[in-house]
Amino acid sequence: MKLYLSLITAAALSLTACSQQEAAAPAPAQEPAASAEVAEQASEAAAEVTEAADAVAVDSECVAVVESNDAMQFNTREILVKSSCEQFTVTLKHTGSLPKEAMGHNIVITKASDKDDVLKDATTAGVEHDYVKPNDERVIAHTDLIGDGAETQLTLNVADLAKDGDYAFFCSFPGHGALMNGVVKVVD
Ligand code: CO
Repeated sequence: MKLYLSLITAAALSLTACSQQEAAAPAPAQEPAASAEVAEQASEAAAEVTEAADAVAVDSECVAVVESNDAMQFNTREILVKSSCEQFTVTLKHTGSLPKEAMGHNIVITKASDKDDVLKDATTAGVEHDYVKPNDERVIAHTDLIGDGAETQLTLNVADLAKDGDYAFFCSFPGHGALMNGVVKVVD
């Protein structure tokens, strides 16, 4: 986001610079070539602004950030996935300082009805598999297991989710799923 915002700012600044240049330039009748060039630069800058604005709109709608901490909590009970997004990225941040072996967190997304069974199998999968049974087809997506200030991501193909489906997200670290869970909803 910050990157895109600074791109917009840069593009907007260059647009402003062009406008000022145009205003300061001699009357168009005297130097039509120079004026046309300035106008072209301005329209290029305007196109950049439009492009950057589009990128922001898509980017901000198709991502969610979830924080987790040393108190075994997520900071949200809901992940809303925009149906207009092709792909949706969920970033998980661990804001604590405990290592993943002690207070590891991940995000696993399944159908709500698969959650309990997936959690059972996750426990035996072990930390080396991020507490997710390898090749578990019930798992729609999951992040790595992280601890101690780390950050990770998963990407959903939105087409894989039914619009009226009941989906859950949870941490599959042993004992965490009962507290660390929420719903995933596809919304307009
Ligand atoms: Co956890």
